[in-house]
Amino acid sequence: MNGALVSTEYQAELSEIASAASLADLEAIRVAKLGKAGTITALLKTLGGMTPEQRQAEGPKIHALREAVTVAIADRKAALDEVALDARLATEKLDMSLPVSPGAPGSVHPVAQVMDELAEIFADLGFAVATGPEIEDDWHNFTALNIPETHPARAMHDTFYFPDKEDGKKMLLRTHTSPVQIRTMMNQEPPIRIIAPGRTYRSDSDATHTPMFHQVEGLVIDRGIHMGHLKWTLETFVKAFFERDDIVLRLRPSFFPFTEPSAEVDVGFTWEKGRRVIGGDPTGPNGGWMEILGSGMVHPKVIANCGLDPDEWQGFAFGCGIDRLAMLKYGMDDLRPFFDGDLRWLKHYGFAALDVPTLSGGVGA
Ligand code: DAH
Repeated sequence: MNGALVSTEYQAELSEIASAASLADLEAIRVAKLGKAGTITALLKTLGGMTPEQRQAEGPKIHALREAVTVAIADRKAALDEVALDARLATEKLDMSLPVSPGAPGSVHPVAQVMDELAEIFADLGFAVATGPEIEDDWHNFTALNIPETHPARAMHDTFYFPDKEDGKKMLLRTHTSPVQIRTMMNQEPPIRIIAPGRTYRSDSDATHTPMFHQVEGLVIDRGIHMGHLKWTLETFVKAFFERDDIVLRLRPSFFPFTEPSAEVDVGFTWEKGRRVIGGDPTGPNGGWMEILGSGMVHPKVIANCGLDPDEWQGFAFGCGIDRLAMLKYGMDDLRPFFDGDLRWLKHYGFAALDVPTLSGGVGA
């Protein structure tokens, strides 16, 4: 028996299904026909009382009826579902302009914030960001930087050493970011302009020192570079970073094995409401000088150690504590909580991830 025959034979049944007005009506029809006490279910039950001949004649008709009704109900349900969906789409609205629920967004650590600010400021001056490994060998950390084996500066760095390697290589946690100078000069052709922010390590701990801390290294290698370039670059950086124009720097002669001449750089500050604020007149009654970084002209021996000709290439370098920059700009007076992971501290001093409140159009903004 085929479907076309069934549909003419049971036209009334099927048109009732096809015209069901709602999902609820359709369900009522389904229960009335196919449910436990349904009419078709009852018909199926009569098969049990028939003679084999009757069953052979009636059975296929009744099964075909049940099949046709089942299919018709499924078709109608699909159609009604679609109508219901269209109705929902027509009436429901999604307001894309509503604010996102705030959740728990976390915050940007002041050290990460300052690193971003440094990258932004120096990018405006044409500097790229370079990186190097925190586990260094003593050649990159000391020897190539003109700090020979017996040099007292090695002792001064309170270095964390690893057990000696079989090949005799001494591995250590880098004590400063200066080895990135070496790696950059060995891997790149001059002219070079980079900053290298990152973690550094020394066995030291008090209110202003933690065994892990952060530095940013600066390096410029080019032809004809002199101290004037260094001074201008540092002044431009410090003014952009502290967001004040009335900042003066003082270059004090100093010594670092990897620079000659070397200068420590002091920044002028003034006392404002019991706080030291960078800027103002350092020679006035409320003023003073504070050391913020070490710098100098890259020592010719360091340039030669990296395979470059110091008669052709000169440069300047500087190294600065990032944590201290953060403390000076954002007013923390103890370094240790920077790395305690206390949520209250992070909430107080952290920065919103998507809405940086300070700086920075960078230099010249
Ligand atoms: N590496 C030095 C330190 O950790 C800082 C420093 C001084 C870096 C002078 C330099 C520099 O690049 O020229 O104390």
